[in-house]
Amino acid sequence: MSSNVQCQHSAPGKDAVQGMPPAEEARRLRTAFSAFATGVTIVTTTSPDATLVGLTVNSFSSLSMNPPLLAWSLFVDSRYRSAFQVADYFTVNVLSHRQAALAQRFAKPAEDRFDGVANRRLDGGGIVLEESMAWFHCRREHSLLLGDHIMFVGRVVEFHEESASPLIFWRSRFLEDRQSEAQR
Ligand SMILES: Cc1cc2nc3c(=O)[nH]c(=O)nc-3n(C[C@H](O)[C@H](O)[C@H](O)COP(=O)(O)O)c2cc1C
Repeated sequence: MSSNVQCQHSAPGKDAVQGMPPAEEARRLRTAFSAFATGVTIVTTTSPDATLVGLTVNSFSSLSMNPPLLAWSLFVDSRYRSAFQVADYFTVNVLSHRQAALAQRFAKPAEDRFDGVANRRLDGGGIVLEESMAWFHCRREHSLLLGDHIMFVGRVVEFHEESASPLIFWRSRFLEDRQSEAQR
């Protein structure tokens, strides 16, 4: 079913809420957005007090080859906002189909999300999760407040990739085993 949504461009801060469609429209828009399947990443950095910071993110997108840029977005009220706005570097870890539990762990409250997770700190504070199928270490170039998210644009300074099947997020769930999905 098609739908007209009046999403106004609004000023940052409290005014942004006024641009939101009514609750029912927002729910339908969220469902429509979820029709787009994405990969899943964990974006990491280190806060000034040396705390390791990381969260599950599916708003990741490659942006430009020349220069090499990528983007992702953080919810404006996230507790990690200042860490990512202060840090000069962050790292995007792309998850394989075997890492759904890790994606869930980095999306829920936990004492220490990194506890027991093999990781390696890179120059500037980004953290590589060793089991990731790819990672991109970035210098932060821009942070843009857009609606209820902050878009971070990073310049890739180092990356690694290996062959594996990706973890897919679709219709608000992880597709861990796409062969069994196909048989349903
Ligand atoms: C598949 C998936 C994708 C997500 N993508 C994003 C995202 O792109 N941006 C964002 O701010 N939060 C995203 N989240 C939510 C954050 O991971 C979550 O709000 C955050 O880890 C909560 O941290 P806290 O409990 O320590 O506050 C996503 C969650 C999941 C499960």
